[in-house]
Amino acid sequence: MNRGLPLRFAAAAKSYGEVQALKPTDLEVRDGEFLTLLGPSGSGKTTLLNLAAGYLEPSGGRIFIGERDVTDLPARRRNIGMVFQNYALFPHMTVAGNVAYGLTVRRRPRDEIARRVAAALAMVRLEEYGSRRIQELSGGQQQRVALARAIVIEPDVLLMDEPLGALDKQLRRQVQLELRRLHEEHRRTTIYVTHDQEEALVLSDRVAVMRDGRIEQLGSASDLYDKPVNAFVAGFIGESNLLPAKVTSLEGGEANVAIGAFAQNATVPAADGLNPGDDALLLIRPEHVRIDREGLAAEITEVVYLGELTAFHLRLAGGATLWGRQITNQALQRGMPVKVSWERAAARIVPKD
Ligand SMILES: Nc1ncnc2c1ncn2[C@@H]1O[C@H](COP(=O)(O)OP(=O)(O)OP(=O)(O)O)[C@@H](O)[C@H]1O
Ligand SMILES: [Mg+2]
Repeated sequence: MNRGLPLRFAAAAKSYGEVQALKPTDLEVRDGEFLTLLGPSGSGKTTLLNLAAGYLEPSGGRIFIGERDVTDLPARRRNIGMVFQNYALFPHMTVAGNVAYGLTVRRRPRDEIARRVAAALAMVRLEEYGSRRIQELSGGQQQRVALARAIVIEPDVLLMDEPLGALDKQLRRQVQLELRRLHEEHRRTTIYVTHDQEEALVLSDRVAVMRDGRIEQLGSASDLYDKPVNAFVAGFIGESNLLPAKVTSLEGGEANVAIGAFAQNATVPAADGLNPGDDALLLIRPEHVRIDREGLAAEITEVVYLGELTAFHLRLAGGATLWGRQITNQALQRGMPVKVSWERAAARIVPKD
């Protein structure tokens, strides 16, 4: 069952009157790739999935699965498995009945259905639960039934819309690991939607950050974390300090910037799309803020002990504030005067939007 086909959007778009739910979008999900859509509510994630699945008709552009243009094919003729935002199981059917559904409507022979349902239930570790009713299952078990129902048809592409949204944190963790195991085994081309950045990082080969109906940035987790294209992406992935700074000059991927809050200039790596004179934002991740012998004068305003790490909040002489995080090796206390430095090579100047 190791297979999957690439899925490609070529300027695919969806509008409702004036509302552009998805602006013209080019996207290729590679064969066997796990790609996650991350973005705020209303940014177009479900719209993109529904276009891929064929539940929505695009207002423009084309959609391909493998070599085949599926734009005009109805959902039931695209070989796609979908797990919906509210997982939509049939409550009056048994677990096995739910999982069999996609095969029953495809009129597969009865013995084949039984065999494939058993295999799909085994895959999600529910082989003992086939004759249970849906209401007799926990939330996490119901979630796994929804997943089994989507994969039983051996889809070319698997689409999952916030499948773990209803689960508590512990169960979420458990099902995440299950999803990862299944993906590693079967390498199905997958698009996964979540609000949870940590979940995106655990599961994905690549992540697309969406905003207002478009993909702001597509890349590996480390691309997005280390090289965000703008302040929106920087703020969406990981924790960040974003300080106003003015670009004074640019050369070879680096910018000289004037940082008002620090009353200093520095040379730092720069995102694309900046010009000398621009008002931009300096991104400093908390782990790159150092309490040191040398540096800017600051006062510790808060300390949060996190075990191995200690997080701290600082106020600089000029009033600007910064979050930092370091290995717990010195006793930090609120009210302590300290000197602060930051790692220039790990910082980044990004456009505001
Ligand atoms: N049938 C519709 N008619 C008009 N506008 C719609 C319709 N469906 C979606 N939209 C709009 O399209 C935009 C994208 O919606 P979509 O459901 O794709 O967002 P989402 O990223 O999945 O959000 P969430 O995280 O809340 O599920 C939103 O502004 C939404 O209001
Ligand atoms: Mg949605």
